Amino acid sequence: MPWTEPAANSNELRRCIRDLVALSALPAGWQNYDMRQIAGSIVAALISILDADFVFIALPGEGNQLISELARDRLTPKTLKHVRTMLQRKRALLGSGQEFVFDDASGGGLHVATAPIGFGGDATLAAGCFRDTFPTRTEKLLLNTGANQAAIAFQQWLGDAEKRRFTTIVHRTTDFIGIASLNGQIQYINPAGLELVGLDALDHALRLHVLDFVSPQNRTMVQRDIWPLVLRTGRWKGEFDLRHFGSGMPIPFLVDCFRIDDPRTGEPMNVATVSRDLSEQKNSEAALRNLNESLERRVTDRTFELAHANEGLVAERLERAQADFRFQKLQNELSRAARVTAASQMAAALAHEISQPLTAVVNSVNAAKRLLARGGPANSLTAQEATEEAASQALRASEIVRGIRQLGSRGETEKRTEALASLIEEVGALVLSGMAPQEVRLGLELDDGARTALVNRVQIQQVIINLIRNAFEAMADQEPRQVTLSTRALDDDMIEIAIADIGPGIPGDIAGRLFEPFVSSKHDGMGLGLSISRSIIEAHNGQLTAEPNPGGGTIFRFTLPSGGAANGD
Ligand SMILES: Nc1ncnc2c1ncn2[C@@H]1O[C@H](COP(=O)(O)OP(=O)(O)OP(=O)(O)O)[C@@H](O)[C@H]1O
Ligand SMILES: [Mg+2]
Repeated sequence: MPWTEPAANSNELRRCIRDLVALSALPAGWQNYDMRQIAGSIVAALISILDADFVFIALPGEGNQLISELARDRLTPKTLKHVRTMLQRKRALLGSGQEFVFDDASGGGLHVATAPIGFGGDATLAAGCFRDTFPTRTEKLLLNTGANQAAIAFQQWLGDAEKRRFTTIVHRTTDFIGIASLNGQIQYINPAGLELVGLDALDHALRLHVLDFVSPQNRTMVQRDIWPLVLRTGRWKGEFDLRHFGSGMPIPFLVDCFRIDDPRTGEPMNVATVSRDLSEQKNSEAALRNLNESLERRVTDRTFELAHANEGLVAERLERAQADFRFQKLQNELSRAARVTAASQMAAALAHEISQPLTAVVNSVNAAKRLLARGGPANSLTAQEATEEAASQALRASEIVRGIRQLGSRGETEKRTEALASLIEEVGALVLSGMAPQEVRLGLELDDGARTALVNRVQIQQVIINLIRNAFEAMADQEPRQVTLSTRALDDDMIEIAIADIGPGIPGDIAGRLFEPFVSSKHDGMGLGLSISRSIIEAHNGQLTAEPNPGGGTIFRFTLPSGGAANGD
């Protein structure tokens, strides 16, 4: 029903118009207001315009939150609380513009009118007054006008808030965001975008074309392929280089390019991009690739080094094997040479030692021949003695051969406890046989305390023969020639035999090598007598030494085990 007012109330009409003007002027002051401040401004205006006892605005949200309320003193806090609770309870009805009367404790009724604020009925403007006439039609009109103002302001504020959020995102992001017209004229570049390509102001960018941002080598591709594709299909995504306006250097970008269409007509309006600078990522990738390559190179180098070292090792091992082989061969040769030497030494030793008994055999046999040729029983008896002597010397020779073989093979020499006196007397007879009595004098000084020795009789006799012969040979060119053989008992069940001469002494040049084989100062000497003798004495656990004879000449001494028999008793 159209709203009319009696002409009598022209004053009221005037007031109503004035109030409507005041209400519609409110938004001019809300430029920097938030929703709560806007609500506060409406509530304050309405309480005065309507001369109401309370006005409140509730907005949708958690529990239909009351955001602004004003009440006059006439409304006790208790009544206000009651009214608020009642309004909350009737929340579902409030949006649709209802009127209620609340009984007040003071007896009067509180008339309440509500108006929807336009948020689907959830938001409400409510005003209450103790006047019975409240609300008049004019007052309802004013209340609705206030609610509409609030709705418009709130909508705008919410829209602005959304815009502010997007603006913040676009401003704060580190990505390049740009908008251009359909023909590529730049319309907007965000601050990060400007910084990435080295531009200091948006004004500068607005004078440029999209292709100015693309690095020269990618321009043709963008102009010919990408831009038409975006216009046609709505989107292109891929990588190409933009250009830095300062340095001119290409900057790799991941580019997402899309068309913006008018939501109402569906007609294309703009082309926009959200692109990401890949420099850092590319640098990291390159660094990683370099690292990989250098690692690979190092592994290859190292492998090569190892292979080389291995080759060296193999060569070294081969060389060592060859050296070992040569060494083995040399050792074999040496040991064969040693065996040959040992064999020839033994042969020489045999020749040396049996020459004396062989000479004796030849002498005896020759004597027997001569005696038999003369004939006669006496001669034949002597001849028989001579042949017996020859036989015993031959036997002796074979004993010597056996002894030397035992020495050579380091086998155990056969030993017995022998009476020293008879052993020595037998030697004396042997060395003196075939010599004229004036040629040499052999003196014996036998110690009663040294009667026996544990020996191989023939071998020890050989030693004594060698020493006495050396003594005779040393004194060959002098007169007189005197050899003294003495015996002596030592401690520890040992005895000593010494052979002393009065010759010239040991020649100085061979003194240090006296007992080595083949060391001789004589033109026909083999240099074996002393070395064989020392071997024999050592095989008897004794020692053979030489020393100067204090009265001139040389003394050879050797020790032997006494054999444990009753020496000295
Ligand atoms: N009583 C000694 N006085 C001086 N020199 C000696 C005496 N006995 C040994 N020699 C020296 O020691 C050397 C070695 O003696 P050895 O009996 O080993 O060999 P050789 O007598 O020279 O030859 P052979 O092998 O025929 O005995 C002699 O050549 C000699 O120079
Ligand atoms: Mg000799």
